[in-house]
Amino acid sequence: MLIKLSDGREIPVESHKVRIVQKIQLIPVTERLRAIEEAGYNTFLLRTRDLFMDMLTDSGTNAMSDNQLASMMVADDAYAGSESFYKLASAVKDVFGFEYSLPAHQGRAAEHLLAKLFIKPGDAIPMNYHFTTTKVHFEFLGGTVYEIYTDEALKTESTVPFKGNLDLNKFQDLIKRYGPDKVPFVRMEATTNLIGGQPFSLQNLRDVKEIATKHGIPLFVDGSLISENAYLIKQREPGYQDKSIQEIISEIMGLADIMYLSARKSCSVRGGLIATNNKAYYDKILPWLPVYEGFSTYGGMSTKEIEAMAVGIREMTDVNVAGSSVEFVKYFAERLIAKKVPVVTPPGGLGCHVDAKRFLPHLTSFQYPAGALTAAIYLVSGIRSMERGTVSMERDKDRNEVASDLELARLAVPRRVYTMSHIEFAVDRISWLYQHRDLIKGLTFVEEPPVLRFFFGKMTAQEQWSRKLMEAFQSDFGEV
Ligand code: F0G
Repeated sequence: MLIKLSDGREIPVESHKVRIVQKIQLIPVTERLRAIEEAGYNTFLLRTRDLFMDMLTDSGTNAMSDNQLASMMVADDAYAGSESFYKLASAVKDVFGFEYSLPAHQGRAAEHLLAKLFIKPGDAIPMNYHFTTTKVHFEFLGGTVYEIYTDEALKTESTVPFKGNLDLNKFQDLIKRYGPDKVPFVRMEATTNLIGGQPFSLQNLRDVKEIATKHGIPLFVDGSLISENAYLIKQREPGYQDKSIQEIISEIMGLADIMYLSARKSCSVRGGLIATNNKAYYDKILPWLPVYEGFSTYGGMSTKEIEAMAVGIREMTDVNVAGSSVEFVKYFAERLIAKKVPVVTPPGGLGCHVDAKRFLPHLTSFQYPAGALTAAIYLVSGIRSMERGTVSMERDKDRNEVASDLELARLAVPRRVYTMSHIEFAVDRISWLYQHRDLIKGLTFVEEPPVLRFFFGKMTAQEQWSRKLMEAFQSDFGEV
């Protein structure tokens, strides 16, 4: 909830109180250097015991509500016909408006099923931007992913409110080039993860739907961060200020032929879902659900998580829940901007994205600026962020490296987990790092897996920069 203070500032104030806590500790910088070296400068490979704040992701790490936790106690553990599933299906119907619910163990499992059943070799799949697992699944099946974002989308410094919009002209050109038969669906991702949590507008979604319908192409919405996108529409799109989050979600979902999501984000649990009102699509997917996920009333999820998901779906329509992370992200970004640190603007959903290309202009893409920055942030603060840049790119068909459009260190803000003083600490250490940015050099791969290398790849620091950075840190702060 945004509160205006008497000095005129507006700050986000939590609309909840904290009743369960988890202890965290800030280990000394010498220990942090050991930890990041052992992790091969890959923040995925750090252990949580070595972290002060875990801002790797909001996936599966949002704080659950008391009602979500309580619902887990009445979970109905049945292989088939579980009452927990019917509660989920009823929440999906009430909030999202879909008749048919197909649970899956997480978002990428939903992507796997959709890829398997809808994509043929030679197909083109247009989208506002890819997500890592989405692209791998769609291209494994022989499709080609086309990101047809607007010209503004990749400008990290911008005031355009909807950088997650699809470019309608490019969309039409693509359909003309391939023919509608080769375009199995168009995918719109709510608050495009990899370009800084940027939302699409409802106007754009309506236009995309109109073009798609004209050519008989279904619209798939990735709704993993649906309530955040709805909140940003409420704030930024003319005509939506007085609409409720529920009304906006209903309007988005009303345009989707299939909606799928990772329930690890807006739903604040651990699971996934495919939902539709199209019986033919439901019948096409249903038989494969038990093959890959589990029977249709649990789909690989624990029934406890299914119960909590039903509650989480209803709770996301509360404007203070939908906005809780968005407002912290905005505060975080604005505080960093005040210290001249380059971040993606306007701030979006999911997290605060530091622009590593502008932070470390002396590094080339293949020195992995975003990777080096995430390692450096950890070293000076104990905060784990995620590389979203060239390390996260797949090599091309000839195994050449591909430079990422953007180099971002993503500091995810899981809902209701961190407080204002945590954010202030993060701002302080990142701005200190910015003043010492010349000390940060590149990374070199020493172990590179063949697919999604950002998960398990290991690197070393060029010119031993991490040691020099640690020494500079010690002279200003001592050990912590
Ligand atoms: N779609 C989007 C937009 C996502 O952000 C994610 C996951 C997925 C699909 C895959 O879902 O993890 O449940 O299998 N994003 C996480 C992140 C991993 O950290 O941003 P999943």
